[in-house]
Amino acid sequence: MRKEKIIEVRGLSFRYADDSDWALENVNMDVYAGEWLAIIGHNGSGKSTLAKCLNGLYIPQEGSVKVAGRDTSDGEALWEIRRLVGMVFQNPDNQFVGTTVRDDVAFGMENHGIPRDEMIVRMEEALALVGMSDSADREPHRLSGGQKQRVAIAGIIALQPAIIVLDEATSMLDPKGRSDVLAVMRRLKQEKDITVISITHDLEEVAGADRVIVMERGSVVQAGAPREIFKHPKVLLDLGLDLPFAVNLREHLVQKGIPLPGDVFLQEELVEELWKLKSVT
Ligand SMILES: Nc1ncnc2c1ncn2[C@@H]1O[C@H](COP(=O)(O)OP(=O)(O)OP(=O)(O)O)[C@@H](O)[C@H]1O
Ligand SMILES: [Mg+2]
Repeated sequence: MRKEKIIEVRGLSFRYADDSDWALENVNMDVYAGEWLAIIGHNGSGKSTLAKCLNGLYIPQEGSVKVAGRDTSDGEALWEIRRLVGMVFQNPDNQFVGTTVRDDVAFGMENHGIPRDEMIVRMEEALALVGMSDSADREPHRLSGGQKQRVAIAGIIALQPAIIVLDEATSMLDPKGRSDVLAVMRRLKQEKDITVISITHDLEEVAGADRVIVMERGSVVQAGAPREIFKHPKVLLDLGLDLPFAVNLREHLVQKGIPLPGDVFLQEELVEELWKLKSVT
């Protein structure tokens, strides 16, 4: 993986009012171009607030956020930062403005003054990338949750962002909708080299991420590869977080005296280790 930093967060603190508690306190983190970064943490730990700081929707009271070298506190850079960082939120129904899928994908481009000919080319490409070309004339509110989120992603793709932030974007979807949306995002990451920042409670998704950040009470308390993060399940459990199936099962088996390595966290790896044990007994 390339190690070029695309987002740099330094000493970021943010609160919603002068007399309220800090929602984010001295957050330091980097995001690398082309990676899939999962952000996990208990309810209220500041994940969504952080996401909104990353695209300049909120400006830090202390510290700084830089996206592709541009500081979000620089008013002149904001427009470009918001084009570079697309956000997809949890509730697909709150993200539609147009009467057809086509209008909806066009909306962001119109706001950004993309010429009409260019708009049509980008629209077709974006809808094809999310597998929604056949639905261009449909009314968004008639689509399934998963289809709605794919259209929301198409609207963002059309703006040619470098980064897409998913804020629990699959949490209201059924399993099929969820896996469709994740599949679309994986393809975009690969084909378009898009950086993905995904706030999620889906631990199987976290296990497949390149890197994970764990948040607690407005701070980043852990950052590392999933393999590192899941090595110490107690820390995650103490934060009130769940464990992926394989890590949970590994912990139970270890407690029962079955010797398994501490860095097993994918189901395939667990199966592999169990086969090894069987072959020596
Ligand atoms: N619009 C707001 N006005 C005032 N306080 C807010 C607002 N949004 C969030 N907060 C507070 O800021 C803190 C961080 O909230 P945030 O929504 O960022 O957490 P989160 O990790 O995204 O939680 P969840 O998992 O529930 O989505 C919480 O204490 C929350 O109550
Ligand atoms: Mg949130």
